[in-house]
Amino acid sequence: MNTRVLTGITTSGTPHLGNYAGAIRPSIQASQQPGVDAFYFMADYHALIKCEDPQRIARSRLEIAATWLAAGLDPERATFYRQSDIPEIPVLCWMLTCVTGKGLMNRAHAYKAAVDQNVAKQLDPDDGVTMGLFSYPVLMAADILMFNANRVPVGRDQIQHLEMARDIAQRFNHLYGQGTDFFVLPEVQIDDEVATLPGLDGRKMSKSYDNTIPLFEGGSKALKVAIGRIVTDSRQPGEPKDAENSHLYALYRAFSSQDAATEFRAQLEQGLGWGDAKTSLFELIDGQLAPMRDRYADLMARPDRIEEILQAGAVKARGFSAPLMERVRAAVGLGAHVAVASAAATKTEKSANKTAKFVSFRDQDGQFRFRLLDAQGQQLLSSEAYTDPKMAGAAVKVLQTTPLNQLISVLGSQVTVSVDGHIVCHFDAANHVAIQAALDTLTA
Ligand code: TRP
Repeated sequence: MNTRVLTGITTSGTPHLGNYAGAIRPSIQASQQPGVDAFYFMADYHALIKCEDPQRIARSRLEIAATWLAAGLDPERATFYRQSDIPEIPVLCWMLTCVTGKGLMNRAHAYKAAVDQNVAKQLDPDDGVTMGLFSYPVLMAADILMFNANRVPVGRDQIQHLEMARDIAQRFNHLYGQGTDFFVLPEVQIDDEVATLPGLDGRKMSKSYDNTIPLFEGGSKALKVAIGRIVTDSRQPGEPKDAENSHLYALYRAFSSQDAATEFRAQLEQGLGWGDAKTSLFELIDGQLAPMRDRYADLMARPDRIEEILQAGAVKARGFSAPLMERVRAAVGLGAHVAVASAAATKTEKSANKTAKFVSFRDQDGQFRFRLLDAQGQQLLSSEAYTDPKMAGAAVKVLQTTPLNQLISVLGSQVTVSVDGHIVCHFDAANHVAIQAALDTLTA
């Protein structure tokens, strides 16, 4: 079974070098590994929490999409989409909101930090705090649980959100799962291998510190200017440098092979001047970014092409989210009325001898199987083969007497029914409601 890796980037800014090395580059590498199904998305609903400038939102999501693609993400292989193109996400967010304790959200770091700042300024504790900011972890949980992600690579600041997503998933599973787990409990993935780049001033590179090095913006010239502004100590050329503690070396290492980094370090320790060191760093990074920069410029000039890729990604993503949403709706009691209606309808249909039924038969290989047919005689599911007809009969009995939800497990849109550890059959999640309805008429 493949591991589902999922992560999102909030679309409220222009990606910088730190975003590339810390999130985009390792995620693209992960998406190329065998056994991994990658789900990467633009968290544009999240962007509305911190940005009320429509132009900036629009521009940012285009830039971030172009960055992923220019950096080499293969949208055929990964599922690459925009959060706002998946209508099931906000619906799931609401359903999760209804099972999430307010107390849990009170403990969220981002909210608490806002409150602390207000208190320090002697303002109302909730001054300027929107419900979006307050319940932001629920939206993030919906992003993750919607696709039953196994692993979520994020920065350390997001660990708490992953814990909350697990809490919320457990709560929902407990309330509505009836013994089956709707939602996979996601694992946070913090990569110590992955570079957290220092910014110009040596603190973590971040837009909020205004210390970033641009990724593509301004081209090679802007990259050179920014590298020129990296803070160093005042040691002169010829004087040995403390490579280990220099931001320049940390940046170099994030883009070079182990051997080249060792070599660069030795040069610094032997007195390489900071100016020359900056030139080497620029050449190293520029060499890697130049081809991507060209692709980026091409993509930015063709927003229609990006749109097409994202629409295709949304179709792929909805192939997972729509069937899961059907199940979630049914679980909370908001399923289509067919389940209720057909239960009522059986009474009349029974007299006309038209009802759902199980039919058993012997296949060409002499094995025993059964099918579930709906009232119109359409096949709803077909069982695996049994050598012993009694076993087949026993499975039918279990299906008629046990709530379906207690027998199923779900992988993507495939639902597997098992009885006593033996697989009875598989069906597509899209048929879940109809199958449930048919079984209801048989147990009624
Ligand atoms: N909140 C994340 C951040 O600020 C972005 C994000 C939104 C995300 N939804 C997600 C990350 C789901 C991982 C999974 O970095």
